[in-house]
Amino acid sequence: MRSSVRTAIVTGASAGIGRELARQLVRDRGMSVLVTARRRDRLESLAAELPEGGLRIESGDLTDEAFRDRLWQRAMEEFPGGPDLLVNNAGIGHYAEFDQEDPAILRAIVELNIIAPMDLTRRALSAMKARGHGQVMFVSSVLGFVGLPYSSAYAASKHAINGLVRSLRYELAGSGVRVWATCPNRTESEFHAVALGQRPGDAPRRAPYAEPTDRVVRQMVRAIDRRMAFHFPGTSARWVVEASRLLPGPFDWFMRTWAPAHFRSEMERASGEPEISRPFASDLSPQQDADTGRPPGT
Ligand SMILES: NC(=O)c1ccc[n+]([C@@H]2O[C@H](COP(=O)([O-])OP(=O)(O)OC[C@H]3O[C@@H](n4cnc5c(N)ncnc54)[C@H](OP(=O)(O)O)[C@@H]3O)[C@@H](O)[C@H]2O)c1
Repeated sequence: MRSSVRTAIVTGASAGIGRELARQLVRDRGMSVLVTARRRDRLESLAAELPEGGLRIESGDLTDEAFRDRLWQRAMEEFPGGPDLLVNNAGIGHYAEFDQEDPAILRAIVELNIIAPMDLTRRALSAMKARGHGQVMFVSSVLGFVGLPYSSAYAASKHAINGLVRSLRYELAGSGVRVWATCPNRTESEFHAVALGQRPGDAPRRAPYAEPTDRVVRQMVRAIDRRMAFHFPGTSARWVVEASRLLPGPFDWFMRTWAPAHFRSEMERASGEPEISRPFASDLSPQQDADTGRPPGT
């Protein structure tokens, strides 16, 4: 049976999970996908490897409301009546002691991880409810269920998303519109490098214990045809959340002892390495390459 999900918007498609997700939706499901991120050159290189016309690009900063207006307008032009699927994937984290965190970074995390997806979802739901079908998929995290030292703001943002999903599912019952979240554990991407304040590039610093992106994403894509509220792709995500529920004492002990030491050593190792201005910079225009700061190709 042919899926009714044929068109999509995927945010954060220049790297990691979003890039692989857009790739699999176009390549393996034959969907038309409008992708977005700030680094246009990365989106263009993805389009070049996929069947012609599969990928449409609108690059910009999602924390900018004017850009979200433009993105939504483009989506309605590309997909009259609105997309079948909105994937709220773009997100950032930053490892820091909470009391030492830069307020500008806290704001950037909240704006990208909560405000932008809420705003895009608001727009998408109004179109989807009118048509009586559609899906909003959030790339949340196991940190929407459990805490992690030195990732407090990020974990708070993912808890907010999980609360949004729970509430919207009640509100949308019987509307034909599905809202759900996929909640990976550590996955290969630029996330870890960005969270350490490093310069991500073609070979970003790998997170220890990270699961392969293509496998995690393949499971996310399969979940599009299912009905659950929360999905746990990869091998470890479900176990992390189950362990926190079934063995709260040992889980808390582990998070109080091993986890802080592990993250402190990661942060210390990274502190001597070059800093990156990309993830939290407001002056990076979509036409600039994050690695060089220059327009792509120059
Ligand atoms: N990797 C993990 O271990 C893991 C685990 C659980 C959940 N997640 C979640 O998975 C999602 C994807 O992360 P990832 O791991 O694939 O990280 P990633 O490789 O760093 O990708 C993040 C994406 O977000 C985009 N982005 C960042 N700031 C943006 C902004 N201001 N405006 C527009 N786009 C922006 C980036 O593009 P530009 O820089 O080009 O703008 C990039 O395409 C996030 O929501 C993350 O929280 C990741």
